[in-house]
Amino acid sequence: MTAGASPSAAPGDNERVTTFYDEIGGEATITAIVAAFYRGVAQDEVLRPLYPEEDLGPAEERFRLFLMQYWGGPTTYSDRRGHPRLRMRHAPFAVTPDAKDHWLQHFRAALDEVGLPPEQDAQFWDYVTHAAQFMVNSFE
Ligand code: HEM
Repeated sequence: MTAGASPSAAPGDNERVTTFYDEIGGEATITAIVAAFYRGVAQDEVLRPLYPEEDLGPAEERFRLFLMQYWGGPTTYSDRRGHPRLRMRHAPFAVTPDAKDHWLQHFRAALDEVGLPPEQDAQFWDYVTHAAQFMVNSFE
């Protein structure tokens, strides 16, 4: 393209940056994904025993706030919890390849339930599949 020929606005004309969080529908969409995901976890004989608390509500809220922050929404997660350091925070739990597969199965179902447009679905899925692989810390 010839320099200067772009019809786009000059930098600064539109200060507001649209994040992936905004694009997918913000808090409402992430809340729906995480709620669907935790309905799966609650029924899962491999995953459920890993969660230390009787009530999954607080864990659901932490994950929800983390994903909102990760995708460019409010930083409430780090305001409350500090730096995510997710691999370290998962160290107390035996995240085996089998647990990872179960985790991803429920996340896939949650994304299917919400039905994001294909490109956004692919971006979200790509992130969680890589992150889940990274969280595996036990091969027992
Ligand atoms: C691979 C399989 C995974 C398993 C079995 C697993 C399991 C767990 C467990 C047992 C907890 C403690 C629950 C609690 O908060 O009280 C936890 C916390 C958490 N997990 Fe995972 N997790 C997995 C993958 C992931 C991935 C891929 C992400 C991010 C994309 C993630 C994000 C989080 C967050 C944000 C917390 C709360 C951390 C905190 O602030 O304490 N997890 N996970």
